[in-house]
This record gives sequence, structure tokens and C-alpha cells, in this order.
Amino acid sequence: MFKPTRLQKFSSTRVTVIGAGNVGGTLAQRLAEKNLADVVLLDIAPGKPQGMALDLMQARAIEHHDRMIIGTNDYSETANSDVIVITAGVPRKPGMSRDDLLRVNAEIVAEVTPKALTFSPKAIVVVVTNPLDVMTYLAWKVSGLPGHQVVGMAGALDASRFQAFIAMELGISIEDVTAMVMGGHGDLMVPLPRYSTVSGVPLTELMTEEAIARLVERTRNGGAEIVQLMQTGSAYFAPASAAYEMVDAILLNRRRIIPVAAYLNGEYGLYDIFMGVPVQLGRRGVDTVVELNLAENELAALHNSAKSVRQNIDSLIPMGLLLP
Ligand code: APR
Repeated sequence: MFKPTRLQKFSSTRVTVIGAGNVGGTLAQRLAEKNLADVVLLDIAPGKPQGMALDLMQARAIEHHDRMIIGTNDYSETANSDVIVITAGVPRKPGMSRDDLLRVNAEIVAEVTPKALTFSPKAIVVVVTNPLDVMTYLAWKVSGLPGHQVVGMAGALDASRFQAFIAMELGISIEDVTAMVMGGHGDLMVPLPRYSTVSGVPLTELMTEEAIARLVERTRNGGAEIVQLMQTGSAYFAPASAAYEMVDAILLNRRRIIPVAAYLNGEYGLYDIFMGVPVQLGRRGVDTVVELNLAENELAALHNSAKSVRQNIDSLIPMGLLLP
């Protein structure tokens, strides 16, 4: 009755996830199970992405989707992807700052980005590997792509963390909380209470300065707190959710306003750097950088964060990973 045919490999939209680790695997699961895209999981470890993809395929009957998930160590199998998400790298260990990861992850990002783009030159690149802002800059440099085609995932995660802490503090639904976090994805990130609201009411009208300062600090240390607790790895559920949110905005051309690490050329007075700023995110990547009317102290905090990102970018030059 049914003629056996080979499964049609890929239907339409296709996302390649480089790095089949905790973040990459969880993201692949979300992309497939929410029926957003077919997924190619690529990893350097033989068998790991293949095993993970097969596991996800075996869940399809129960999860009710027909998305294809394949695992591979071969870049040619990633061809014609619409989005490439880079999660390959080494995660933070206890006591290690994001910036300690710089050299080892820079070598990985500089290797995988051009390899993936050879087969999908039109793809939007979403970088997840830490230290985020520097890795996004490096991926952009080695790719030769226009700035709008490369984005880094950080602000979406930091904002989601801030939202979680606000909702927990006030004992209210997360649905009613919006938050804005700008700057580098590090200790100097800039959560913006003035632009964070509960059903439109700014946080500054709902909480004391002390309470806000406590939540801001917890947001800044959001990743480190989890590393400390887990001891043998770093966060991956919320990072995968934040990466999903960005891929969804891109593939469906939703033009959502999401803070991402975006290429800045004069916006907020910053030049030739990737930093967390709100952007309109759609099918071409960054449509526009949204320029908020920052107060003097907020802008100063943003520039302070940029200084630290710039130092890390510059430190790649003597390592031979970036041309001056
Ligand atoms: N090419 C392809 N894959 C690689 C390479 C490479 N050159 N080097 C490492 N990988 C793979 C590893 O084999 C591993 O499967 O990247 C994967 C990383 O997975 P995990 O170690 O589980 O790390 P994860 O928790 O997923 O975090 C990945 O995202 O949030 C950031 O800070 C985090 O930089 C880290 C990245």
C-alpha cells in the first residue's frame, strides 16, 4: 500500500548547530520539537552528534513532529542551512571566568565558522560560544560577512534571567515581566531597570533601589551561580531557550526587538565592536540597531563594558588569531 521510499532528507527550513554538547543538543531538541526547522548537529567528536540525532529521531513519535535531525562530523552535510548556530567550545569550569576561555574557544570558533559558511554562505550566523562578544567579533572577522549577518546570543539570556529574578522577587507571573539588559555578556553587563517593566510599569516604581541592585547583581552573576552549583558544567537550558528565541525571530522574519550582540558602527558612540544592544531581528539578521535614550550613567556603564570587550578582542592579536 505504501511504497517504501527513502525519507525525504530535508524539507524546508534548516538550521545547523555546530557543537552537539549540552547547549547544542538542547537547542536541537527545541528546534525540532517546536517544529521550527530541520536540524543538522555537527560535532568534532565521532559518533556524538550521530547518537544524539538518532535519539531525537526516536522521540518523534511521542513528540509528534516530522522534523529531520541528522548528526554528522562532515561539514558538507550542513549545506544550504538558513541559520548556523555556533555552540562549539569548552564550557566554563568552576573558578574560571568567561574570559579565561578566550584562547581555546577562539581557536575553535576561528576553525568552525569558515568551514560551515563554505557550505551555507547565505546563512545567518548566531554565536553562542563564550566569551560571547569577542567570539561573535571573531566569527564576523573570519567570515568576511556583512555585520548584519552575524549576531551573538547573550542579551536574550541575560534579560530572561533578569525577568526570572523579578518575577520570583515579586511573586508574579513571568508573562507580565519584560527586561532589558545591554552591554557585554560578562560581569560588566548593563541591566536596565528603567527599561524593565511589569505590565508596563517600570521596575523603578515597584521595588526599592536595594532590591533592584540585588537582582541586577544576581543577573550579572547568573551564569556563574549555576557553574558554582553544578560544579561540572555550565548552564544550558536557558542558553538554548535564548538561542531558540533568536532563531525563531530570524527564520520567521518576526523583526522582534531582542538584545543581541550586534555589530556597532557609531551606535551608542561605539565603533567596530560587537556588543549587547536591542535590535530588530529578522530574516536578514539585524534589521536595525535600536538606540535607546540612555541616561549618562547608563551610557557610561555601556562604554565601560565595551572597554573590557575591546581589551579581549585586542588580546586575540598577539595570539595570532586576529589580524591587527
Ligand atoms: N568542532 C566542532 N565541535 C567542537 C569543536 C570543534 N572544533 N570543539 C569542541 N566541540 C564540541 C565538543 O565536542 C562538545 O560536544 O563542542 C561541544 C561543546 O559542548 P559542551 O562541552 O557540552 O558545552 P556546552 O555546555 O554546550 O557550552 C558550549 O556555549 O554557553 C556557551 O560557555 C558555553 O562556550 C560554551 C558553549
